[in-house]
Amino acid sequence: MEETKDLRDLVDRERLPSHIAIIMDGNGRWAQQRGEQRVFGHQNGVESVRQTAEAAAELGVRYLTLYAFSTENWNRPKEEVNALMHLLVITINNEIKTLNDNNIRLRAMGNLHCLDKKVKEELNEALDKTSHNSRMELILALSYSGRWEIVEAAKAIARQVKEGTLSEEKITEKLFSSYMNLPALPDPELLIRTSGEYRTSNFLMWQTAYTELYFTPKLWPDFRKEDLYEAIINYQQRERRFGKTSEQIINCKG
Ligand code: IPE
Ligand code: IPE
Ligand code: MG
Repeated sequence: MEETKDLRDLVDRERLPSHIAIIMDGNGRWAQQRGEQRVFGHQNGVESVRQTAEAAAELGVRYLTLYAFSTENWNRPKEEVNALMHLLVITINNEIKTLNDNNIRLRAMGNLHCLDKKVKEELNEALDKTSHNSRMELILALSYSGRWEIVEAAKAIARQVKEGTLSEEKITEKLFSSYMNLPALPDPELLIRTSGEYRTSNFLMWQTAYTELYFTPKLWPDFRKEDLYEAIINYQQRERRFGKTSEQIINCKG
């Protein structure tokens, strides 16, 4: 406990990332290491979500986006998909009170039409019941993929050009961004992936163009508050140059 507090104190509150995105990976391996079914790992991953959301909100992070289910995850065995959907329903339902107590707004991104009816109902209820909260936004990426989101944006823009309500010259990066699922969100400054995999698996492809990436071997069900602090401290030691030279960045600070 003492150690956790120490690590938290090393986080520079003045230079917090406003938006952190996490690829919560390694649930299946965590369960298999214990001789259990993969779903046991997903169940234990819920506590990590709780801890991470709490830690982020306590620090003052404004947006936390969690990759909970990718478009590609629909291709997993039917039993695992069903178990994950069932877990989502239960978890969302159980957490509404805690979210409200902590003033956290739940949001969702992804191809939500694809979700089971029950999941959609629970989700919409939670989105609605937490919509007035303002301390932090907890965004669940569900049935989400970055390429899907970009293609949807391209289709919407193409429709408008065809209808004559948008001209080609108006299409800029800024305008394109406004066609993303949750356009008001700033791009994540920090992306964390657990489980030792070094890839982004189709997550937030547009938004992470200049995001700092942090990889940890920890499996998601083992991820705790101090792991989030560690990732943020690591991020705060980096120099974000956005194509400029180091000298330019240092001079700007002065
Ligand atoms: C992440 O853990 C959770 C989801 C993708 C839904 P995994 O289920 O991918 O676990 P591993 O990577 O197989 O260990
Ligand atoms: C990415 O994890 C998706 C989520 C965490 C929801 P995966 O386990 O599905 O990714 P790959 O298949 O290893 O790239
Ligand atoms: Mg995985």
